[in-house]
Amino acid sequence: MKYTDKMLRDDALKGKNIIVTGGGSGLGKAMTKYFLELGAQVAITSRNLEKLQNTAKELETETGGKCLAVKCDVRHYDQVEAMHKTVIDNFGKVDILLNNAAGNFISPTERLSANAFDTIIDIVLKGTKNCTLACGKHWIDTKQQNTAVLNIVTTYAWTGSAYVVPSATAKAGVLALTRSLAVEWAKYGMRFNAIAPGPFPTKGAWDRLLPGELKEKFDLAKKVPLKRVGEHQELANLAAYMVSDFSAYLNGEVITLDGGEWLKGAGQFNILEAIPEEMWDMLEAMIRSKKK
Ligand code: HXC
Ligand code: NAP
Repeated sequence: MKYTDKMLRDDALKGKNIIVTGGGSGLGKAMTKYFLELGAQVAITSRNLEKLQNTAKELETETGGKCLAVKCDVRHYDQVEAMHKTVIDNFGKVDILLNNAAGNFISPTERLSANAFDTIIDIVLKGTKNCTLACGKHWIDTKQQNTAVLNIVTTYAWTGSAYVVPSATAKAGVLALTRSLAVEWAKYGMRFNAIAPGPFPTKGAWDRLLPGELKEKFDLAKKVPLKRVGEHQELANLAAYMVSDFSAYLNGEVITLDGGEWLKGAGQFNILEAIPEEMWDMLEAMIRSKKK
């Protein structure tokens, strides 16, 4: 068995209809592919219809599943409501919402215009709120039970991070939304959870967060105790479990999938990893000698 193997039984998502925002590329596409393989019907949505249609066609051919491409800018509630209606018209119902769409770029915060800051907040926080509200209100109105929302955040949702401040601010809001609604809307049969991925190479993230020479300069695998970046299937395995009925008792949780990356940055003495093995005898002797 390998960590890139597919984890769940083949029919784990049979009968489930899922909306994946930002499903046309990167991690959204990888999760969509696995959901289709597990028997779900998936609607993928973003701003670029041509990209979505190409992805939908590719994934339908590869998996034999049903993938619907719907254009929608998640920043605008009217577009989100229209997208939601299109999915209901095509699939009959929606069972699961995966808020994955995001915008981000690196910049010293003082260089950002007010509009640049807003743009990220609007895609990440307002977009997640818009999709959650549209689906949630509908689930409440129609008394649909056994529904789930999965939000993709980052580990800097709780640590914060320099140079991606709008993204950190927005992801922190998404995490608060996840935990708040996990309690408030549980009575309507909804579950809310989140995944905080560590580095998973995608074109969308890497071109904006590690442009040009930065890719070679900052090898993100080196920041990870397990000394590697994540594989898309590992994330897809976790996401599929978290939206499936197998995780029926999981609610209000954020699961970190980062090989230990954020904790490595947090632990005060983790830097001692730089000490060569052969120095430890000498250091121990020095410390013990203090007792005398
Ligand atoms: C400073 C910038 C900028 C930059 C844009 N702006 N890029 N400011 N530095 N690099 C400013 C613009 O000048 C403008 O402000 C405002 O931001 C909006 O820019 P637009 O280009 O008009 O916006 P839009 O076309 O809506 O594009 C949104 C975008 C873009 C976020 C700027 O990058 C995008 O479409 N991203 C989607 C995909 C993405 O970002 N994926 C990565 C997710 S990775 P003014 O004032 O001039 O009008 C992720 C991973 C986290 O989240 C963790 C990894 C470990
Ligand atoms: P990506 O390929 O750039 O995905 C972002 C997606 O969001 C794109 O498909 C984009 O499609 C869509 N999108 C952006 N703005 C939108 C808008 N206004 N309305 C609707 N859709 C919009 O990047 P990724 O790496 O796969 O990231 C996916 C998720 O994982 C994000 O939430 C990100 O924060 C998170 N994450 C990624 C990593 C990583 O290492 N890759 C680490 C931590 C967290 P269009 O351009 O067609 O609109």
